Amino acid sequence: MTKILVTGGAGYVGSHACKALAAAGYEPVVFDNLCAGHDWAVKWGPLEEGDLLDRDRIAAVIGAHKPAGAIHFASFAYVGESVTDPGKYWRNNVTGAINLCDALVAADTKAIVFSSSCTVYGLTEAAFISEAEPVAPINPYGNTKRAIEIMLADFETATGMRNTVLRYFNAAGCDADGEIGEVHDPETHLMPLAIAAAAGDRDALKIFGTDYPTPDGTCIRDYIHVTDLADAHVRAVQRMLDGGASDVFNLGAGAGYSVCEVIDAVGRIVGNPVQAIEDGRRAGDPARLVADIAHAQQGLGWQPVHSSLDNIVSTAWNWYRAHAAAGQA
Ligand code: UFG
Repeated sequence: MTKILVTGGAGYVGSHACKALAAAGYEPVVFDNLCAGHDWAVKWGPLEEGDLLDRDRIAAVIGAHKPAGAIHFASFAYVGESVTDPGKYWRNNVTGAINLCDALVAADTKAIVFSSSCTVYGLTEAAFISEAEPVAPINPYGNTKRAIEIMLADFETATGMRNTVLRYFNAAGCDADGEIGEVHDPETHLMPLAIAAAAGDRDALKIFGTDYPTPDGTCIRDYIHVTDLADAHVRAVQRMLDGGASDVFNLGAGAGYSVCEVIDAVGRIVGNPVQAIEDGRRAGDPARLVADIAHAQQGLGWQPVHSSLDNIVSTAWNWYRAHAAAGQA
């Protein structure tokens, strides 16, 4: 079986990608330090515990498994923390990516798929954001994602290692079979917080800003189901292994929902209204971030099919219901 190295494969998006890789006939080899990931989420191939800051360890794992390609998820991803502790983010995200690329090149593995973020576009005002939109990240987390994108281009020039950059919008929802799901500690994302609030398991949800220039005054985001994201990764891997050229793809549903619309959907599906209170704006939140997905549709032959708001909320709620008691939600 063709092996694919998956750094961060014990995490939320990474574990869903591993399930999709296995279904497509690949063996995902997870490399994860388990600082944010979970060993129970590694179900479709071996778990190689290790940290990307340990150059010898990642080189040894790649040398032992000889993967045909890599998907690089492993990264710190709290925007607020990146502002207060930028060194932590630059050291982990950028140095880790350098070490991974060095080890891949040394093993002659010349294809990498990188999980980047729409955060690289910063405070854009485009109604639908295409890959041609200027990049201008506004926080250290986004800067590290952008720095790695640039570094990958430099590696290709020097070594011929091709890359696919996937810029996610808002990953949400959980595996429809309930095998894996979203578990962050601390949790900061709207969808799981709204579900926990509707379930009565936490205090009222704070709505960050009600005075944005949107129809109901709350921020609009493009929520993409994690299973659709996982499918895009498999297609990106296949394309790389078939010799496809380096490219950048925005991954979203191509539709936007406001915070209030998400809250309404969660309340309806959980069967209990979300207790919510209006709060001030959160620093650095653009009013609207919605993807133009035409390039991903054409270049990856990809179509989001699980990303209706109701399906995202339903799958997330099913996971939460089954796992909250076990501390896995
Ligand atoms: N929100 C609230 N209350 C909360 C949490 C979120 O009102 O308690 C709002 C936010 O202000 C935002 C929306 O809900 O308008 C979505 O917020 P999330 O924190 O769920 O997601 P973000 O859009 O902030 O973050 C996502 C990714 C990040 C990435 C960022 C880039 O999850 O990894 O996009 O913009 F960095």
